Amino acid sequence: MPVSYAQMCASIRGWKVTVLLLLIAAHLGLSGKCTRPCSCDPRKLTVACVNKNLTQVPPTIDEITVKLDLRKNNLQELPRGAFLHTPYLTHLNLQASNIRSVREGAFRGLGRLVHLNLAHNNIDVLYQESFDGLLSLKQLILDHNRVEEIRPGAFTQVGSLNLLSLAHNRLVYLPNMVFQGLLNIQWLKLSHNALNNLATEAFASLFTLTRLSLDHNELQFFPTQTMTRLVEVTHLEMSHNPMIYLGEEAVSMSKLTHLSLDHMSLQDLSNTALIHAPLLSHLDLSHNQLRSIEPISGPKELSMLNLTANPMYCNCHLRPLREWAQEGHIQLLGACAGPPHLSDEPLAAVEPADLRCRGREGLTKEELEETEASVAVAGAQEPSATKPKKSENCPDDCDCAPEAQHATCEGRGHTKVPSGFLKNTSLLDLRANHFHNLPTNSFRGLADVVSLRLDQCKIREIESGAFRGMKTLLYLYLSDNDLTSLEPDTFAGAPQINYLHLEGNRLLEFPSVATLTPMPSLLELHLDRNAISRLEPAAMLSPVSMLRALHLANNTIESVAPNAFEPAPHLEKLDLGDNKLTEVPTKAFGDDHLLRELRLSGNAIRWVGPKAFLPVAESLQHLYMDGTGLAKMSKDSLAGLGSGLLTLSLGGNQLESVPSLSALTGLQSVNLADNPLQCDCSLAPLRKLIDSMSVKVSATCGGPGDIQGQSVKEVSVFQTCPGNEEPSPTTPPATEDSSPVKAPKKIKPKPALLEGVKPKPSKAKAKAKPLERPRPSVLPKEGKKSKKTKKNEKKNEKE
Ligand SMILES: *[C@@H]1O[C@H](CO)[C@@H](O)[C@H](O)[C@H]1NC(C)=O
Ligand SMILES: *[C@@H]1O[C@H](CO)[C@@H](O)[C@H](O)[C@H]1NC(C)=O
Ligand SMILES: *[C@@H]1O[C@H](CO)[C@@H](O)[C@H](O)[C@H]1NC(C)=O
Ligand SMILES: *[C@@H]1O[C@H](CO)[C@@H](O)[C@H](O)[C@H]1NC(C)=O
Repeated sequence: MPVSYAQMCASIRGWKVTVLLLLIAAHLGLSGKCTRPCSCDPRKLTVACVNKNLTQVPPTIDEITVKLDLRKNNLQELPRGAFLHTPYLTHLNLQASNIRSVREGAFRGLGRLVHLNLAHNNIDVLYQESFDGLLSLKQLILDHNRVEEIRPGAFTQVGSLNLLSLAHNRLVYLPNMVFQGLLNIQWLKLSHNALNNLATEAFASLFTLTRLSLDHNELQFFPTQTMTRLVEVTHLEMSHNPMIYLGEEAVSMSKLTHLSLDHMSLQDLSNTALIHAPLLSHLDLSHNQLRSIEPISGPKELSMLNLTANPMYCNCHLRPLREWAQEGHIQLLGACAGPPHLSDEPLAAVEPADLRCRGREGLTKEELEETEASVAVAGAQEPSATKPKKSENCPDDCDCAPEAQHATCEGRGHTKVPSGFLKNTSLLDLRANHFHNLPTNSFRGLADVVSLRLDQCKIREIESGAFRGMKTLLYLYLSDNDLTSLEPDTFAGAPQINYLHLEGNRLLEFPSVATLTPMPSLLELHLDRNAISRLEPAAMLSPVSMLRALHLANNTIESVAPNAFEPAPHLEKLDLGDNKLTEVPTKAFGDDHLLRELRLSGNAIRWVGPKAFLPVAESLQHLYMDGTGLAKMSKDSLAGLGSGLLTLSLGGNQLESVPSLSALTGLQSVNLADNPLQCDCSLAPLRKLIDSMSVKVSATCGGPGDIQGQSVKEVSVFQTCPGNEEPSPTTPPATEDSSPVKAPKKIKPKPALLEGVKPKPSKAKAKAKPLERPRPSVLPKEGKKSKKTKKNEKKNEKE
């Protein structure tokens, strides 16, 4: 009946309307929760706060959010528990958010996160617990940061990870077990770093890895032992490394199918180099310096050999290769470079019979000699340590994770170092106990420990040889104890210590030469917050000539012996902040220094004289002298510094004027905040610098008169200064200090940025290369310039 039909329709419509209203209500309810500068899509449960200058993760983001996009903000540091209020996240994008540091436990609570992108930030260290709690994480992207150190245990909590990408960072060295805990990793990308040394067990425990990218690094030798640990790897990318030779049995990887060794400097390849790579099918040797190679033994299924862009000399020496390729149906790519009648002829098109020698062709002997020399070098790899593994228990009041080789007894009130740890323990965490005294041989039988934490243990005394037998110990944390002195043999028997933390003790003196002597590979020494009053004698660093970073902030240092830092020419970071220095310790540096970062803030340096930074001028990138009471800088104080300087920080001083910065064309950041700067024409060049946009400058006028307190960027006084009437190129500078009126011409924003950001550091790295292991003869100490020239030569050769 029509009536009941109409009623029915009405009721259906009503029902529909109700549902619709409900949906709208739900929608409104959710979007009502959208945190202010962000935009939200409540149906997809996504929140985006892109390019909002946020300095912290907004705490009010809807709890049920699944995808969070925080790109391009200004987060600086991710504190512990930064995402505790959004536990359902699966995707988190933190690209380009100016993140310097990811604190331990920053991602705690994100047990569902699958994808984490931290690319294009400024992260330099990956801490032991930076990625804790990310139980489901599959992809972790850390490309384009400044990572130069990965602490042991950084990845122990991300066992689901498939892809770890660390391309475009500053890694130089990979210690043993650094990727421990990556139980499901498939692809590890380490391209575009400065790796020149891989510890033998650097890749141990990566049992699922199938692809490894090591291209664009500084490896001079194929790391045979290290690679042998990669039992499942099928694809290995090693292009763009400065390798000259591939020696006998160099590659021992039983599953390897694809190997890229292109764009290197290979001059020769042993015919048995690949004898232990039986499944190899694709070998790329293009863009090398090979003139001839023999048939390659080992791979039974080789289908492609790429020799493009090698100076292949097509004579009788190449005939065996040609015949072998023909018989094995191996696709041979590349062309002859000579002799003239065959040049540019594709290798695959040359008939074996045409590969002939007229008498002696004279290249083999030379190559043979070179070959022998390189074999000797390649053979000098360390033998691998294989030890019987005996099962034992975990000591009382400790927690042990045998698969991760990790043991912790943190904060359990132990008064003696517990014994009974598994012999293969590699991370041992004993922090926050009450040991008072560490006797000789305290860690007997623990030869595999890589990281030992003994911070906050109330240690007053360490007996000689306390760490004896800890042959692989790399990281030793003794911070925040009560040490007042160190015995000469304190660190004897632990020769691999690379990172030593002694900050927050009561040491009265810099460790003696005898104390440092047992640690020839030391890279970082942390001595902040002690009571050291002078740095002497001049030879104090001679036993640790590899040192890269020296931290001495918050001591009471008044004087530094001349040439104190000279024995450590690779020193890159020096922190002398918050001491009692009254002058820049110019004389403490040697002539050939590679210092990149110098911190002198919080001293009592009222005046900086001429050429104060000259010995380190060529390498210095970051200079901090905030809050020193600085009132005057000589106009030549920055002499020698040039386009390499990126940061100049002089905040909180008494400066009324600054010397010319016109030579510093690479500057990215200048801090002059809280200085009584006199905003008259002598400061016009600074204003130009600010207006050039590529430089971040904070500076406020201290005068004259009414413009006090205004930002240099805003005041108009400079408009009338000479040099501002734009198209008059001959405007004579009024005073000496305003000569850099020409500066803007030199400060071309883009080239400056380009030069400042990328090539510089990598050059510095390349220079600082011979770090961990004394390198074989080839590269003795060279002047910076000769090294650079050499690089250029190499480039030219390739082109
Ligand atoms: C970004 O935030 C900082 C600190 O909160 C502030 O000093 C700066 O002016 C802001 N920049 C912009 C472009 O909003
Ligand atoms: C061989 O090497 C050249 C030069 O690197 C490259 O362009 C080409 O794609 C390679 N061929 C194959 C099949 O890999
Ligand atoms: C360490 O040793 C214990 C006991 O021998 C063993 O269960 C564990 O798997 C070992 N860990 C590794 C990573 O070899
Ligand atoms: C030095 O001590 C001051 C005051 O205790 C502190 O603010 C600063 O962070 C310390 N610096 C370092 C590098 O420890």
